[in-house]
Amino acid sequence: MRHLINFKDWTPSEVESLVDKAIELKKTPERFRTSLQHKSLAMIFQKTSTRTRVSFEVAMTQLGGHALYLDWMTTQFKLAAISDEIKYLSRNVDCIVARLKRNVDLMEMASASSVPVINGCDNMYHPCQAVADLMTIKENKERLKGLKLVYIGVHNNVCNSLIEACTMTGLQIIAVTPIMHEPARDNILLEKAKATGLYTSTLDVREALKDADFVYTDSWVDMELFLDPKFKREKEERIRLMMPYQINAGLLEKSTALVMHDMPIHRGYEISSELIEGSNSLIYEQAENRLYSEKAILLRLISGI
Ligand code: CP
Repeated sequence: MRHLINFKDWTPSEVESLVDKAIELKKTPERFRTSLQHKSLAMIFQKTSTRTRVSFEVAMTQLGGHALYLDWMTTQFKLAAISDEIKYLSRNVDCIVARLKRNVDLMEMASASSVPVINGCDNMYHPCQAVADLMTIKENKERLKGLKLVYIGVHNNVCNSLIEACTMTGLQIIAVTPIMHEPARDNILLEKAKATGLYTSTLDVREALKDADFVYTDSWVDMELFLDPKFKREKEERIRLMMPYQINAGLLEKSTALVMHDMPIHRGYEISSELIEGSNSLIYEQAENRLYSEKAILLRLISGI
């Protein structure tokens, strides 16, 4: 049985075949209308979400199956042992997607589950986002190998999965990340990525952007912490350190790179408003592609297609 926690136990060809399946699902959705008939997906959320929740729920509907949303705070997950709740849940559903605060809890879920568990984003990884990112890149350039992506932002869960996915599929990735979000640190992942020769890091953002095909950013502060008074000082410090790295028209003056962001966006912080709707922006297309990517992941894990 496969899980999707990160890509550590996936091969490069398996990752790229998820991307190709997602593109196929986007082009010919009618062929897959009943592929997951009578199958159920449990969606457990400990944190807020728009895209992950919507895309998985709609994906199950469009594949002929059913999704049920479980809010951590209104279920017994809040009170009981994760493993007990998962041992029960996996007897009633065919797959579980979970957005949890801690990767260690997701790992506990996966080891207790008798059905595939998908990481809907935890503190360390966001593999579903990375599949949609690669899909968007391949749709636009018709290949992955040999392209160059520059990630500019805080080194976080999205950055980890992007580094992992790019280096597995032949994309060069340069990370311009003045801040490491410590809960996301995965030195093993980074060492493995470095060994491919495709991943480097620098703080020279203009040098990094030379010949870049894509420039990617993400919010500097998690959405739920952005409004949290307890995080106010840390937020202000991050903004101070990160503002020189904002993606804006000035920074991209000499670049033809296509602009990516996984959303949600903090307009005026990691990216200026004019770039979001600009002619080089792939942002909404990238978000839309979460749907087809989730379909590919669900089909692979539930039906082995
Ligand atoms: N990119 C992403 O995961 O969006 P949500 O947080 O809205 O699910």
